[in-house]
Amino acid sequence: MKHVRFKTSRHHTHSRKYDSIFLNQYPLDTIPLWVADMDIEVDERILQGLHSYLNEKILGYNLEDPTYAQSIVDYLRRRHHCDIKPNWIMTTPNVVSSINACLLALTEPDDAVLVIEPVYMPFFKSVESTQRKVIFSSLKLLPSGYVMDFEDMESKIVEHKIKMVLFCSPHNPVGRVWRFEELEQFLSLMKKHNVIVVSDEIHMDFIFEGHKHIPLIGLDDSVIMLMSASKTFNLASAHVSQLIVKDGRTRKKLMSLYHQLGLFHHHELGLRATTIAYSQCDDFIDELCEVIESNVQLVESLLKDSPFTVIPMEGTYLMWIDITKLNLTSCQCQKRLIKEAKVWLHDGSIFGPTGEGYLRMNVATSPEQLIEACQRLLLWVKEQTHESEPLK
Ligand SMILES: Cc1ncc(COP(=O)(O)O)c(C=O)c1O
Repeated sequence: MKHVRFKTSRHHTHSRKYDSIFLNQYPLDTIPLWVADMDIEVDERILQGLHSYLNEKILGYNLEDPTYAQSIVDYLRRRHHCDIKPNWIMTTPNVVSSINACLLALTEPDDAVLVIEPVYMPFFKSVESTQRKVIFSSLKLLPSGYVMDFEDMESKIVEHKIKMVLFCSPHNPVGRVWRFEELEQFLSLMKKHNVIVVSDEIHMDFIFEGHKHIPLIGLDDSVIMLMSASKTFNLASAHVSQLIVKDGRTRKKLMSLYHQLGLFHHHELGLRATTIAYSQCDDFIDELCEVIESNVQLVESLLKDSPFTVIPMEGTYLMWIDITKLNLTSCQCQKRLIKEAKVWLHDGSIFGPTGEGYLRMNVATSPEQLIEACQRLLLWVKEQTHESEPLK
């Protein structure tokens, strides 16, 4: 491998994923496969850019250099065949703040917001914390995989007078990469009922062979797009993300919200990292996708014929695993796996009502670590079946 380098020795680096093991007093050799950052080093070209920034020896007030917005425009055109203009781009500190800003600036308290679950939990937590009403529409699990339930969505849109929908594409945690026909049907439904569409596409670079990510804003330029280089390039703590909005009036409303909070400047480190990532590192993305897809196949093959049933994936680095055969709740199962198998997965029930019965596994780590984690899971299952007491 030329650009992708694993790093699993991350203890005592202020890593949330690793250092929470000590904080929670979990067994010290617990394998953490929960929070969504990668055990993969930042690309050397980005690191060099950041080193030369630090070598300037001053971290004073900065100006957003035009090469930053242009790198995003060029990247979206080159990699995703999507045309936007530099002035549509607003920089924000992270995607979750962008979600909250959309809710606060474009809806009113008590307005109903549609959330398609199971989904990354801040989607509904943000709606609750901004005093809007969460209306869930659950994805349907067919033998072919998860699909949106358009009938259910439409009846809820009408019944609750939905103002906004928070869309996740590709979808965390079920790993779907939405197809053109699905996106068209989704958009026409939202248009029919004047629902504001906010589309979080932070996972757009993790797309497996045979699938293609289609940015929603490319199909309808009234869509508000949220993105960040933070997932693809492992830059979460660099705190730079983008809100992409064509309509000037909407952009102004969103911008004034950030200005009310005094957030005029953005992290120079994040701006530089993003610019390099989107202008020089396409080969890192290609290599990374191959690594993740091969990790997914590895876990699928190791867990085959076990009570951990892997849901087929089309993208992202987060595997969705059905554990209903274990007769434990997701929460019980997560806790016991940490304590007894020393593998830390995410409890699926936190992703919404239909997440119960599932766990989420982050596979953006080394194959060696995944093999060890799966062996521990399998050994744990074996030990349970040898014990006389049923699993609780
Ligand atoms: C769909 C989705 N959106 C947003 C985020 C978080 O983005 P940020 O750290 O920029 O708020 C995540 C992190 O896992 C995610 O999966």
